[in-house]
Amino acid sequence: MFNAEFLRNPQVLSEGKTTARAYYVPYGLDGQLNASSRKISLNGSWDFRYNEKFHVYTKEEVVVLSSEDFQQTIAVPSNWQMEGYGRPWYTNIQYPFICDPPYTFSEIPSAVYQKTFQVDAINMRKLLRFEGVDNCFVVYLNGQYIGFSKGSRNASEFDITKQVLDGINTLVVQVFQWSDSSYIEDQDMWWLSGIFREVSLLYRPHKAIWDFKVETHFDSHYQDAQLKLSFLAIHGEDVPCEIHLERNGIKIFEEHGCFTSGDVFKKTIVHPDHWTAETPNLYRLTIKTAEEVIYQSVGFREIEVINGEICVNGTPILLKGINHHEFHTEKGRAVTPEFLETEIRMIKEAHFNAIRAAHYPHIPEFYQLCDTYGLYVMDEADLECHGMLQAKNKNHISDSKEWQQAYLDRMEQMVSRNKNHCSILFWSVGNESGNGLNHQAMIRWCRQADQTRLIHHEGESRDCLSADASSYEKDVVYADFNSRMYAPLDELIDVATNREIKKPYILCEYGHAMGNGPGSLKEYWELFEKYPKLQGGFLWEWKDQGIKAERDGRETYLYGGDFGDQPNDYNFVLDGLVQSDLTPSPSYFDIQRWQAPLQLALDFTTGEIKVTNTNRFLSYQKVSIEWAYKVMETVLEKGTLVLSVPANETVVSRVPFDRAACQKANLFKATITDDALNKGDSLPLFVQSVERPLAVVSEADHSLPFDYFEENDERILVNFGAYTLRVNRINGQWALNHAGKLLVKSPKSVFWRPVTDNDFVSAKSWRKFGVDRMQTNLVAIEWFLESSNHFKLLIEEKHGSAGNFWHIHEKKEMVFYSDGRIEYRVSGLPKHQYPETLPRIGLAWALSKEFVRTRWLGKGPIESYPDAENGTYVDVFEQASDKMSFLYHFPQESGNHMQTSWVEVSAQNQSKLRWTSHLPFHFSQHQQALATIDTAQHIHELNDSECIWFYTDHKQHGVGSRSCGPDVLDDYQLKLEEYKYEMTFFFE
Ligand code: GAL
Ligand code: MG
Repeated sequence: MFNAEFLRNPQVLSEGKTTARAYYVPYGLDGQLNASSRKISLNGSWDFRYNEKFHVYTKEEVVVLSSEDFQQTIAVPSNWQMEGYGRPWYTNIQYPFICDPPYTFSEIPSAVYQKTFQVDAINMRKLLRFEGVDNCFVVYLNGQYIGFSKGSRNASEFDITKQVLDGINTLVVQVFQWSDSSYIEDQDMWWLSGIFREVSLLYRPHKAIWDFKVETHFDSHYQDAQLKLSFLAIHGEDVPCEIHLERNGIKIFEEHGCFTSGDVFKKTIVHPDHWTAETPNLYRLTIKTAEEVIYQSVGFREIEVINGEICVNGTPILLKGINHHEFHTEKGRAVTPEFLETEIRMIKEAHFNAIRAAHYPHIPEFYQLCDTYGLYVMDEADLECHGMLQAKNKNHISDSKEWQQAYLDRMEQMVSRNKNHCSILFWSVGNESGNGLNHQAMIRWCRQADQTRLIHHEGESRDCLSADASSYEKDVVYADFNSRMYAPLDELIDVATNREIKKPYILCEYGHAMGNGPGSLKEYWELFEKYPKLQGGFLWEWKDQGIKAERDGRETYLYGGDFGDQPNDYNFVLDGLVQSDLTPSPSYFDIQRWQAPLQLALDFTTGEIKVTNTNRFLSYQKVSIEWAYKVMETVLEKGTLVLSVPANETVVSRVPFDRAACQKANLFKATITDDALNKGDSLPLFVQSVERPLAVVSEADHSLPFDYFEENDERILVNFGAYTLRVNRINGQWALNHAGKLLVKSPKSVFWRPVTDNDFVSAKSWRKFGVDRMQTNLVAIEWFLESSNHFKLLIEEKHGSAGNFWHIHEKKEMVFYSDGRIEYRVSGLPKHQYPETLPRIGLAWALSKEFVRTRWLGKGPIESYPDAENGTYVDVFEQASDKMSFLYHFPQESGNHMQTSWVEVSAQNQSKLRWTSHLPFHFSQHQQALATIDTAQHIHELNDSECIWFYTDHKQHGVGSRSCGPDVLDDYQLKLEEYKYEMTFFFE
């Protein structure tokens, strides 16, 4: 019987539950795959009452619960905080309660749910199954106690045959928000409660297959395979079974037998099609008893470590992995299989081949999707006690005997439920829980339960670092491979070249995708490709976990602290490759580029082209490469090349172009498609370009002479044709008018950018130097009327900040021509104890909002930064001006375009402003002022400025990955030193 003490006793895990088993849906003999008459969903609207104060319903109270006791109804599945009860609470490492296990709060909020449902009067076993309830719950049926369970992301099944009534039944469930088990559910995510996964009623025959395990074992040539079906638990003895296997409707075999618990059925399959992430070939196994049918997908594959490399079917693999949380911006952790399928499609389109169920087992349908689409899965036990770092002993509970059963249960529940999925290659003992005796117990148990997969334990790898954490010293012993998070590149090289480290090495997390970034994915990829021991990794993480809301009448995304949740870890929950609403962020395209199975290299002048297929298994018979030699948008020559490119090979060919005809070409563009990719989806754009920046040379009309010139102590006025230039002699600022209308004002030097999540360390130092509050003093001004057609202005400025001695001495030379052209030359010299790096060096122009379109020759179509530019290529692009920046949900620097040769903005009335330079520059533009973006903390706080802010930058600092990982690498830093740049501005 449930007792409130259960909520603070780690030794009580459950009461009344059946033993964990493989997940399957039982079907009647009429078995239609999409609708089982034996599984009745209890999802839908349930009576609901939320109690902020601690209250435990007694059995007597449960019996007399009446409709008045339930003020509301709630959808099941759901998280009650997402439906308006209590509040979402975000913490990363820290516990939201006093760290004093097993106690959490004395006032534990809870909710009581009630549902009535119909049960058929048939002589079968009846089971009630909960796929996930956060944090723990008590079940009553018709006023009788059924049981209790902890383990939010694990399933609980109760046999209710004895208590169930024919006809109407009343189910009451009380769910508590916290218990001792919250100590081991401290994953970096929102704390969300309630019945958040499916609830169902199952009808099962008395004689039935309860639990079984499917394994496939290849012969030494990976040709023929043995299908091994172990009957782990059967209800009743000698249950007659029909077993058959088919593929795409074609029968492979059919056999009959009588089985008892412990029996094993084996069958050799000749030449089965292999399952890999690249070739997700699935067979269907049917197990049929006299009264029931169970279906199971089977993929023939074998996972081993051979010569220190993780291999699938004998071939080493490279993990192109992503960490995935189950989260929906409006529904919290109550996600549907359809939603996960949408995500998995996007994941496959970015060419990921692996996924880590971070940091808990996902809904059962997730694994079926991974089997079907082809993703290598790292399945992770629902276990994290990261907050024990607060106790200054990460193994405080991981070493404690009192907690051992709880740890073991987490492993057993996961392995038992998911063991029949071919997509799972790795079992992870959980995340960030130290490395304790309890982990060893989990690993021991797992080794006897499943010998067909590898075991992951990042916590053990942490203990393989040297005492000062500067180097990775030795192999893990308990786990099957070494696994690290956010390791710097140096460590990877050390490991790769250290012969003492014999086990494979992966990064279970790398490339922290928070905000603008991560930078330098390329550097990781170069190492993965170079060293066999480095077998790739899992990027952190798939999606931002912001909660969609409306504020001030605008859509916005909320994070830690926005719900009055204290303490919290602020916006660290927005760290995905795609945004909370699934909008891909620029880094999605960056990683897509590296992970693409087909890579192109071209010699621009000879037309020699190399096409590499980095797949380990899948060859392409007909890769079509559509190519074009271009001068800006003009195609000089184009064609299609069709090649066959076997897995793991590079094919060299030649683009049949006419060299003479293409002499002027400066761009080469290729798009690759192959029908075999992603089941007929065409491979996303795959472009390579040769960067030959080109300036637009416009022949100036020099005929117009200056017709007026005037100067006094404060200003200079020059008139030439329709143009008027006014220069302020005190501050050096000027304004150029055309036909009486302001065309452009002098740009201001700019060194700051709206701080990115990854800038946070550099920003501290920049702020110390006052880079965020630079001021300008004009120190000299001179002008010359050099000839009849141009006017030269020379100004010298010092840029520094209050209280600081260091500054940048800039000299600006501007030559104004009578046709509206301005040549702009800037040189800068830092003086005294100046900062080592700067966010940017450039000019900020305030433009009229009439310039609604932007066209440029440079990197695009999306943004690029020195260490995050691989999702982009050089071409001519065009875009609406108000779409030129990327709206990170935590506002920050965005929308930069590198390698720009020219850029123009145009108004409805065809008038145009254009910047061009022989030296490639960066540009970006925003509808909001820099300070607005820098201070806003949500997108609804972004108020548009009166003008467009347009930036032409000489340089920008890289973005790095410092929000959790390495900072900007040396090569990508904007080092402050003497500089010079120039550009020409036109008006048309
Ligand atoms: C890791 C952790 C993740 C997440 C990430 C930072 O240390 O495993 O759960 O917290 O860092 O976003
Ligand atoms: Mg953590």
